[in-house]
Amino acid sequence: MSENKNPIISAVGLSKVFRDFWSRPKAKAVNDIDFEVYEGEVIGLLGPNGSGKSTTVKMILGLLYPTAGTLSVFGQSPRAVETKRQVGYLPEESYLYKYLTAIETLDFFGALFNLSAEERRDRSNQLLEMVGLSHARRRRVGEFSKGMARRIGLAQAMINDPSLLILDEPTSGLDPLGCKEVKDLILMLKKRGKTVLITSHLLSDVEDICDRVIILYGGKIRATGTLHELLTVTDANRITTPALSPAVTDKLISILRENLSGDEFTFDHPRKSLEQFFLEVINQAKSESIETAGVVGGGKIAEYLTENQTAESILSDLTRDTDKVTVAEPAVKREPAEDIDAENKAIERLTADAPPATEKAVEAQEKTAETAAKAEEDLSKANEKLKDLLS
Ligand SMILES: Nc1ncnc2c1ncn2[C@@H]1O[C@H](COP(=O)(O)OP(=O)(O)OP(=O)(O)O)[C@@H](O)[C@H]1O
Ligand SMILES: [Mg+2]
Repeated sequence: MSENKNPIISAVGLSKVFRDFWSRPKAKAVNDIDFEVYEGEVIGLLGPNGSGKSTTVKMILGLLYPTAGTLSVFGQSPRAVETKRQVGYLPEESYLYKYLTAIETLDFFGALFNLSAEERRDRSNQLLEMVGLSHARRRRVGEFSKGMARRIGLAQAMINDPSLLILDEPTSGLDPLGCKEVKDLILMLKKRGKTVLITSHLLSDVEDICDRVIILYGGKIRATGTLHELLTVTDANRITTPALSPAVTDKLISILRENLSGDEFTFDHPRKSLEQFFLEVINQAKSESIETAGVVGGGKIAEYLTENQTAESILSDLTRDTDKVTVAEPAVKREPAEDIDAENKAIERLTADAPPATEKAVEAQEKTAETAAKAEEDLSKANEKLKDLLS
């Protein structure tokens, strides 16, 4: 896959060492890593707590300077204004202005990207509907539940219709319906040619949507590859069929017994995932019009992100055939080259129409992100102090 694709992010020997007050190295958060992220892929950055995921993300966003190595995003420095214009970011923690309402929040971020008032209104309404928050448009985001804050954060990351989306734990705090919507949304964005980098601890979510993963431990890359390469068990086979009659089952088992010893094969019924079962139960409740005071389902894709395809056709494309999958293949099939060409042209048009962000806008955006970085740093210092006191 790598040979014929454009790297959007390219890191060589990338390292980040955090130093203490006396400039002594304190933590090697990222330790000499090389990786590339290609156009149009969904890539997962995985690893246990403290393995360097957020630090890597912050370097890609130009919020932290690497201690060593080189890093380019869209062929330029991560700090270049032109680079930032093309990037959408959902931070690990939501840092929203708590006195602004949902609609004001999106309007504010739209203004940072120089969108016209009309475009801001249109995009904000479409995004709020997409993330299931239309009914809470006039509520202050400070009052939002964790899941609602995550949803408005996602909408904010997409207001500028970015080519590269960086989502730090996008499904954390979301209910299973919300997770499913976010995953469908990410797959839809990929289908539109966007590149998405996510970090997550929810491995089943990553497995559902990522083409490739990078697994970090102690700031080093321990494994990387497509899910197909990493997860396919090549020394075993699986055949899935409709339910078989007892006669056919007996025949099959006797053939297997002739060729294999009893403990070398299993013959059973496949199980649904808990997610699939949960969604069936909730959809049934919805179809019976049972009332809820919680989040109203979103998932209708913002039109400006989809051009002329309807949300329904995209979602049905994405879910097509999933109930009869028998061979482990990447979750989304590639479209014929012509379709991709047409989509790429549509995206080019979209991006070409978007007015450039001003220096001032980028500064304001940076400020928000810097506040986030500072808050995290303060927290980490407080934790260190606490550790010292306790030891
Ligand atoms: N601002 C900072 N100052 C000092 N050390 C830091 C700072 N930010 C991160 N670190 C350290 O760098 C290492 C990697 O942290 P990072 O936040 O990148 O991990 P992570 O993989 O995102 O973890 P999590 O899964 O908990 O979000 C940790 O040891 C952390 O304590
Ligand atoms: Mg993190």
